[in-house]
Amino acid sequence: MNITSATYVGSKPHHTQCPNDGRPEYAFIGRSNVGKSSLINALTGRKNLALTSATPGKTMCINHFLINNKWYIVDLPGYGYAQRGKSAMEKLKTMISSYVLEREQLTCLFVLIDIRHDPQKVDLAFLHFLGSHGVPFAIVFTKADKLPPSKVKTTANKYLEALKEDWEELPTYFITSATNKLGRDELLDYIENINKNL
Ligand code: GTP
Ligand code: MG
Repeated sequence: MNITSATYVGSKPHHTQCPNDGRPEYAFIGRSNVGKSSLINALTGRKNLALTSATPGKTMCINHFLINNKWYIVDLPGYGYAQRGKSAMEKLKTMISSYVLEREQLTCLFVLIDIRHDPQKVDLAFLHFLGSHGVPFAIVFTKADKLPPSKVKTTANKYLEALKEDWEELPTYFITSATNKLGRDELLDYIENINKNL
């Protein structure tokens, strides 16, 4: 799929304040600093569309980007970042879970996982939560450029093996890098295919 236009629409603290036009939307979620905003920029080919930062906790609201005038990309705040303090963490948790459970136009949630890390409790718990509520999702491994190419597949497979303890059927997954655009075309094709079949 070609991205012919990508426009920032708005940033809201609650999904009920977000665009309500029924266009399909694809949201990116995962722990703080996993590379959600960077991946959105890589996918759209717009360097500063989503704000990124080396300091975790950059994205604090639900950010909508309209793509090709047809569908939305949504940048969500990261979960599991304790530095913010307990009440801010609770607020974010509520924002994320109400978005995920109530947002009718959410078509697929991409759950980002840093490919270098072993399975983390907070990610496994989040995937479990999605599964138990029937939320459609796919896994996106990020920062693959940080591993030697020969290790990328085996590292992802190790992660997937661990997931098998929890899941009968493995979810769809992608291996990506915002730095060298690995996986970009596959991810965009996946979205295009879903859009076609809606
Ligand atoms: P929050 O909004 O804070 O939750 O973070 P985020 O998940 O949106 O992460 P962000 O895109 O801001 O990236 C965090 C850091 O990781 C930045 O320093 C990025 O440059 C770096 N980064 C993101 N993606 C990649 C990648 O594919 N490769 C490499 N090498 N670095 C990356
Ligand atoms: Mg971000």
